[in-house]
Amino acid sequence: MNQRISDPAASVAPDFIKHAKLKAWVAEVAALTQPDAIVWCDGSQEEADRLFVQMVAAGSVRKLNHAKRPNSYLALSDPSDVARVEDRTFVCSNKREDAGPNNNWEDPATMKETLKGLFKGCMRGRTMYVIPFSMGPVGSPIAHIGVEISDSPYVVVNMRIMTRMGRAVIDQLGDSGEFVPCLHSVGHPLEPGQADVKWPCNKTKYICHFPETREIWSFGSGYGGNALLGKKCFALRIASTMARDEGWLAEHMLILGVESPQGEKTYVAAAFPSACGKTNFAMLIPPKSFNGWKVTTVGDDIAWIKPGKDGRLYAINPEAGYFGVAPGTSEKTNFNAMATLKENVIFTNVALTDDGDVWWEGMTKEIPAHLVDWQGKDWTPEDGKAGRKAAHPNARFTAPASQCPSIDPDWENPAGVPISAFIFGGRRSTTVPLVFEAFNWNYGVYMAATLGSETTAAAGGAQGIVRRDPFAMLPFCGYHMGDYFNHWLRIGHSVEHAPSIFTVNWFRQDDQGNFIWPGFGDNMRVLKWVVDRCRSRAGARQSVLGWMPKYEDLDWSGLEGITRGQFEALTKVDVDAWREELKLHAEWFEKLKDRLPPALPLKRELLELGLVD
Ligand code: OXD
Ligand code: MN
Repeated sequence: MNQRISDPAASVAPDFIKHAKLKAWVAEVAALTQPDAIVWCDGSQEEADRLFVQMVAAGSVRKLNHAKRPNSYLALSDPSDVARVEDRTFVCSNKREDAGPNNNWEDPATMKETLKGLFKGCMRGRTMYVIPFSMGPVGSPIAHIGVEISDSPYVVVNMRIMTRMGRAVIDQLGDSGEFVPCLHSVGHPLEPGQADVKWPCNKTKYICHFPETREIWSFGSGYGGNALLGKKCFALRIASTMARDEGWLAEHMLILGVESPQGEKTYVAAAFPSACGKTNFAMLIPPKSFNGWKVTTVGDDIAWIKPGKDGRLYAINPEAGYFGVAPGTSEKTNFNAMATLKENVIFTNVALTDDGDVWWEGMTKEIPAHLVDWQGKDWTPEDGKAGRKAAHPNARFTAPASQCPSIDPDWENPAGVPISAFIFGGRRSTTVPLVFEAFNWNYGVYMAATLGSETTAAAGGAQGIVRRDPFAMLPFCGYHMGDYFNHWLRIGHSVEHAPSIFTVNWFRQDDQGNFIWPGFGDNMRVLKWVVDRCRSRAGARQSVLGWMPKYEDLDWSGLEGITRGQFEALTKVDVDAWREELKLHAEWFEKLKDRLPPALPLKRELLELGLVD
């Protein structure tokens, strides 16, 4: 499908592109950005191989030792371009109020003028790639199509792993199918004779969403969620507005299946803010004593959920790969992730070993004697002791989901999987109990709307400050959070079999600051209770917050060390702490008051009334 042309603006599409609107958009972008060539991506292995050869020759990626890590590559970014840029991210709805206080806003016409100025000639000296992609299995009634135009070959090879990309999507689009146009440039044009840099980017960055016209424009960054526009920009910010308008949900959630020894399958979707072990939970391996129980992975980051004809909610993972944080991932913390990373992986900003493989903090107990760090500099354990990281804390892997040993057999089922429970969890050293089930849908929405998480030193911020991250969607909701809460309330009442809603907290600490709960595989004990509750079997007691397990309601087989006393500490509802917590909820609601559904402050008052010493 590759087509190189000398005059991009003249005639841009190969013959088999029948979609007039797509052709016109590509021509319009080519005229604006003035690339040297246009390539229509077909998504084939040959195309990816060719791009990797080009990138290796240009020095922008390195091929890893084929014997150790077949078909895998390492990219090192510019040190200024290592993460999503929330302060440069905009939702340009027609009305400022619709973007809400949770988004940066600019008038769409004004922003388009600014962007057109930046995009004018920005692909000079580069190739423009047209990347047709489907979020979700091609043709699934829950899936949607996007087309990304990018001048970054690194984006092409990542999109090929993260989405279903190429010719099949063009065929699905036909001559008039709907697609979300996603325009991306690293913003680093090359004048004739000018040498390229290894990681082109621009210090001016704009990540812009136009919800009414369903468009994305991203300028200046080559990294992750700023550049792989199918992920946060489309699958969450734009899709959340589509979902609001069309009666479905686009959520920052993992999806997993739990299979009992009797072969009963229950699917849950779970939302956690970053740095809460979301990928680990999605790929959980139950303790050995849970004979016959199995956890399977449908997705690790995003869920699109639509009502089915049977009154249940059905979810797909719109992605086809994992773009996960590498540091902290090991065979001990996430065996399945490590197995997924054996081959066909793109690593970004991890360290390089002397034998041409990769390493990051937490990967092995033994620290290699010598590495090349993520900035391309020599690194020894002495540097580590002095506080210099070998891998950037936000270093990533891009790996095909199909390689995950725990992948669910239905992960590509176009109909999705039926969701029985939603789980919401944050990182809280105090106050929030290990697990509880909301009394009803509205209570569950209240808990999710007030979800908070403590910042960690690893994320660069001050430690231990609770930030509200409702539904783990604060950076990703493409419209006013108050309207989003309303949408959730409505959805729950519009389906006959709404899932149960649970809150969890793996991070409660004792007076000495030690985690009480072992976490990781032992989270299965909580997950099993959740699943049993959905099937109305597990016992529970009523607390002011919701239904909670009694000590004997959790399966403790094979676990020594959690005493009744510790279980009390894990599940205690500290009335004073909750009075303080509810004050913070009130402050949080105050920020959203112009669109806050009245049901939520009402729930807050009921909770407060229920708090008795
Ligand atoms: C991610 C995130 O990268 O949530 O998934 O930031
Ligand atoms: Mn995420």
